[in-house]
Amino acid sequence: MEDNRILDRMFPSDILPKVYPKEFDPQDKSEADDILNSNIFNVMLNRRSQRKFEDKEIEPWKLDIIFAAADTAPTAGGFQGFEIFHVTKSETKQQLVKGANNQPYVNAPLVLVFCINPARIKLKFDSTILHKFSIQDATLAAGYAQLAAHALALSSIWIGMINENMVKESIGTNLQPSSILCIGYPKKILLPKPKRNLTDLIHTI
Ligand SMILES: Cc1cc2nc3c(=O)[nH]c(=O)nc-3n(C[C@H](O)[C@H](O)[C@H](O)COP(=O)(O)O)c2cc1C
Repeated sequence: MEDNRILDRMFPSDILPKVYPKEFDPQDKSEADDILNSNIFNVMLNRRSQRKFEDKEIEPWKLDIIFAAADTAPTAGGFQGFEIFHVTKSETKQQLVKGANNQPYVNAPLVLVFCINPARIKLKFDSTILHKFSIQDATLAAGYAQLAAHALALSSIWIGMINENMVKESIGTNLQPSSILCIGYPKKILLPKPKRNLTDLIHTI
């Protein structure tokens, strides 16, 4: 039962039968491509930040999957100490551009503001720890949403350079914003950026 509810959230009812459950035919190349495109490692390896978006709306079913993906992220104690503000008004997006140090691409087709909500975390720790937990909750959720967007052939830019008070005022909340995720169809597909060599990154101790 629980599993079915999660799948319903991941795949809205009109497309669920097309996506899951799915029996793959190894002879059918298009299905192999399908698996490759949705393979999580493939999505991770090919993701690249994008700041130029097509002026094209995102289909509501893609939006649903992005939200459902954010909702699957691990959170401290399972309390989901974060909130997502889905910004639809053009005027609010313009205000967010200003609140993000005038970064113009914040005016994207899909704009999600992730805020922390430490009051949701019912754990007996001091407020500093709960604050830290909620920042991690909001960050993970945004990361999951970002990966889901890429799996859906969308691109995104993570905005961390924000004036918290201006963002709060724009979206009408007292909650502290942690990041803005701007999503859209890319104008041009960019290759992933080179990353650090793993031998430099991993410190085996
Ligand atoms: C915490 C954080 C804050 C960021 N803030 C901004 C930002 O304010 N503006 C921006 O254009 N990109 C921002 N980025 C995107 C990074 O510049 C980008 O992820 C980085 O250059 C690596 O490129 P890649 O995402 O294509 O691998 C931020 C990313 C992170 C994780």
